[in-house]
Amino acid sequence: MVKRNTITDIQKKYCSGEKLAVLTAYDHSVARLVDSAGIDMILVGDSLGMVVQGHNSTIPVELDHIMYHTEIVVRSTEKAFIIADMPFMSYQISHEEAIRNALTIIKKTGCNAVKIEGAGFNIPIIERLTEVGIPVMGHLGLQPQSVNILGGYPVQGREKAEAMKMIEDARKLEKAGVFSIVLEKVSSDLTAEITSMLNIPTIGIGSGSDCSGQVLVVNDMLGMDEYIKFKFVRKYADLSNVITNAVKEYISDVKEMKFPAQGESF
Ligand code: KIV
Repeated sequence: MVKRNTITDIQKKYCSGEKLAVLTAYDHSVARLVDSAGIDMILVGDSLGMVVQGHNSTIPVELDHIMYHTEIVVRSTEKAFIIADMPFMSYQISHEEAIRNALTIIKKTGCNAVKIEGAGFNIPIIERLTEVGIPVMGHLGLQPQSVNILGGYPVQGREKAEAMKMIEDARKLEKAGVFSIVLEKVSSDLTAEITSMLNIPTIGIGSGSDCSGQVLVVNDMLGMDEYIKFKFVRKYADLSNVITNAVKEYISDVKEMKFPAQGESF
């Protein structure tokens, strides 16, 4: 039987200098493939609001949506360490509500950890969760749930004050007990500084090569949506073309009565 990665396995890999490979996943087919290819961790990100549900931000994602997809991903995988994203409004209202929601995610989905965007108000939540045995992943730099105050998705940490605040937040998150921190769209120099100062892994997305690992949205790196052209995304496949061509071929086979053939019938 395959043994699922534990927090200790992740820490061992980090301490040995091995880079951590992380991808998002939301459904059975992709989660199964990503897992069997050997990914270290899978994040059931609230990016599902954009790539699965077709919204233009992550704000509309509900706790129930994250739980639904996380439960599927856990059931469909054997080896990867699974992290569920805490969606907008699931942790901002009160510490009590945040802790209850995080514990519910863990209890009902069977995932291994939760991720929370930002520091500040979240520090007591993270302290309590780690105290009761829940691994928490932090998230600094660009925090997509704050799109309305940011006015978009800009690179973070270019201004000195902003960089100092991020360094301070990273220290606070580590002290509060997070096992890892996502750094999203952070300038490379600042990423290097934060990564070398911490004793926990940083997982970068659009933050250069100096992180302890990398994460990408699986739909983006597989080229599922031809209109996605982010500088930081390397497209490892061109599935939008593969799928479009396959569907066109199927349509024409049906119209021309080439499908099904005799061998495909009973
Ligand atoms: O929601 C998500 O997929 C994320 C990653 C981009 C880190 O938060």
